[in-house]
Amino acid sequence: MELDPQAIKLNDAIKGANPALLDMLSAKGKAIFFPKLGILAQSAEANGKEINATIGIALEDDGSPVALASISKNLNLPAADAYPYAPSPGRADIRKLWKEMVLRKNPGLAGKTLSQPVVTAALTHGLSMAGYLFCDEGDTIILPDLFWENYGLIFTHAFGAGLDTFPTYTEAGGFNVEGLRAKLRAPAVRGKKIVLLNFPNNPSGYTPLPGEVKEIVAAISESAHRGDKVVVLIDDAYFGLVFEDGVYAQSIFCELCDLHPNILAVKIDGATKEDYVWGFRVGFLTYGIKGGTPALYEALEAKTGGAIRGNISNTSNPAQSLLVRSWSAGEYAAEKKQKFELLKRRYDEVKRILAAHPEYREQFTPLPFNSGYFMCIRTLKADSEKLRQKLLTDYSTGTINFGGVLRLAFSATPTAKLAKLFDNIFKASKELSGT
Ligand SMILES: Cc1ncc(COP(=O)(O)O)c(C=O)c1O
Repeated sequence: MELDPQAIKLNDAIKGANPALLDMLSAKGKAIFFPKLGILAQSAEANGKEINATIGIALEDDGSPVALASISKNLNLPAADAYPYAPSPGRADIRKLWKEMVLRKNPGLAGKTLSQPVVTAALTHGLSMAGYLFCDEGDTIILPDLFWENYGLIFTHAFGAGLDTFPTYTEAGGFNVEGLRAKLRAPAVRGKKIVLLNFPNNPSGYTPLPGEVKEIVAAISESAHRGDKVVVLIDDAYFGLVFEDGVYAQSIFCELCDLHPNILAVKIDGATKEDYVWGFRVGFLTYGIKGGTPALYEALEAKTGGAIRGNISNTSNPAQSLLVRSWSAGEYAAEKKQKFELLKRRYDEVKRILAAHPEYREQFTPLPFNSGYFMCIRTLKADSEKLRQKLLTDYSTGTINFGGVLRLAFSATPTAKLAKLFDNIFKASKELSGT
């Protein structure tokens, strides 16, 4: 593909700051740019003029957005914050606020440089845009074998990148750093490696301990020192939901965003799970690399904004407005704490149930968990799919089967029903296995 001069300009800015980073981009990532010329530039030039016939929305004669009363009557937002388009990279206010929040929630980022977050239509879209920018046909993504199923559609079906997994846990029940290290030692495809980390994890509910994080970082660092260019995609969907002391509670982005010029850390996060707004569709993509300059980050943001413009154009303005208002409200922190405590009570109840019922271990083993929305059990006697079916038909209980492993969402199960959930699984498993 012949590159547009605007893409060449961005590539030159990236190359000028860090030539390795250019090699990390996919072919599409190298070619994309945010159009500074054309409609957007001409619209910007017309801003504030007496007659502005450039904008692709409809305005009333008084200049307010045209709106249907049947919609406005249900909307408690000023028209200007709801109806017009948001910018492709997201509204400036939400990007600024989210960055401040990320810095506050991750003290480990103090003194480190990172890009301005770019707004995506939630995390799936952020992951997809990361696929667009960094994944070519034939690339492989290294990740633990317990992963969110949708990664297959996002990376493999859309961009032709394979998923190369290693067992999530060691025999002792810790994070399998050696599994990651072994994958990182294999020869790189076109000199590039892509790693995908998701903590707290879906489905396992596991977040590594500080010592494990140190080892994960060391394994990635070794790969970069061997000369590989490493893109680390960090899916922070469940950020903040860590329920045990002594578990690494920040984003691993903190450790990776200034580790080595060969390592690009891509933070994919957002309001979906953190703020309990699953249907709002607001997420963020943020970049960090050692030696990252403002020019480099601006070029990456422009490429991301361009990919978004050519894909969904921009993210819901009302959703961005509602979140900005919530985050700026005095009650936000207390409300968050209250909901965290609800999930923590459920987590504690699951731990209590498992400790109180050693007999459950004859039928299933809980996999290590300490965070997030979920935990998993490995079935020992019954086939996990048959167990799932039996739970549905005989026990009115829904679970997710991952082949040998059932995922249980304690986030969505009333606290008072958790004991029954495990009892149902135990009974159904016993009936199926006859033991
Ligand atoms: C690990 C993980 N990442 C990303 C997502 C997608 O989140 P969103 O709804 O913001 O697209 C999910 C949703 O289930 C998830 O579990």
